Amino acid sequence: MTAESSLHLTNRPRRLRCTSTLRSMVQETQLRVADLIYPLFVMEGEGQKVEVDSMPGCYRYSLDFLLKEVAEGFELGIGAIALFPLIPDAQKDNAGTESYNPDGLIPRTVRAIKQQTPEIVVITDVALDPYSNQGHDGIVENGKILNDQTVAVLVKQAIAHAEAGADMVAPSDMMDGRVGAIRKALDERGFIDVSILAYSAKYASAYYGPFRDALDSAPKFGDKKTYQMDAANAQEALKEVALDIAEGADIVMVKPALAYLDIIHRVRKHTNLPVAAYNVSGEYAMIKAAGQQGWIDEKKVILETLLSIKRAGADLILTYFAKEVALMLR
Ligand code: PBG
Repeated sequence: MTAESSLHLTNRPRRLRCTSTLRSMVQETQLRVADLIYPLFVMEGEGQKVEVDSMPGCYRYSLDFLLKEVAEGFELGIGAIALFPLIPDAQKDNAGTESYNPDGLIPRTVRAIKQQTPEIVVITDVALDPYSNQGHDGIVENGKILNDQTVAVLVKQAIAHAEAGADMVAPSDMMDGRVGAIRKALDERGFIDVSILAYSAKYASAYYGPFRDALDSAPKFGDKKTYQMDAANAQEALKEVALDIAEGADIVMVKPALAYLDIIHRVRKHTNLPVAAYNVSGEYAMIKAAGQQGWIDEKKVILETLLSIKRAGADLILTYFAKEVALMLR
């Protein structure tokens, strides 16, 4: 009798880990390229691709270069992109007027993508911050962010995006009532098939820092705590999700992802809608930084991280790693 067989154990969980074939048979969660949404930064100009300092491997693209990136992503199986614009300072104002210019950067970009790669799902961000000279997601008056006046502008922005051909609009501003107002306005204009991906539980997070570098959109005063959620709150996330569902959201999102895996899990239990999670810029930057130092095995950490977001309950993941992962999973 060998030492190994001396114990008479009823259960030996290791049995199902013996070979890689067995392990893959009992694998509970899979990461697929089709689960990924690729966020992309677009800027004015031609022939330009500028790396974001705090997001190595991530670029702001002029439209011609962006189209190449979109085509390559689609070839690799990425079915959806989320667009974010870098707006020149001269076009920024307190009311975010440029956000609903029908010939603005985002509508032009959407039209060009839809012409080139009609099958890709184009998701546009609905919020004022890239267009605001205050760096806030809403109109500012005496240091306060006005809710209802902001919603009126968000509605115009969403319509401009739908008219340009966006498949999905994604309000990321956290104003109250914006999902319902956008749904009503889209329906009144016949855009019944344009979906709403609602940033429902979006926290006031320090993990957005690199994104604000990318878009030059950091708040000019204060922080975003009067509209984005307190990191301490979980019940409130369910309240926000319930409201967005009642107002007509098609997909609900939790953001950021990693420090909020418990929230993803709770939201998953709460709704039958698809749940998205945003693996945000700061989460990307931390992995890239440690990878560059040689302190972690970057590729493995990326896959493990995204898998954890799916295991927590997300169906869809917005991630700057999308293209790298598509290459890895090929
Ligand atoms: C703005 C917006 C932000 C992000 C997506 N949309 C930043 C913010 O709210 O300040 C962050 C994304 C990221 O960090 O990757 N409405």
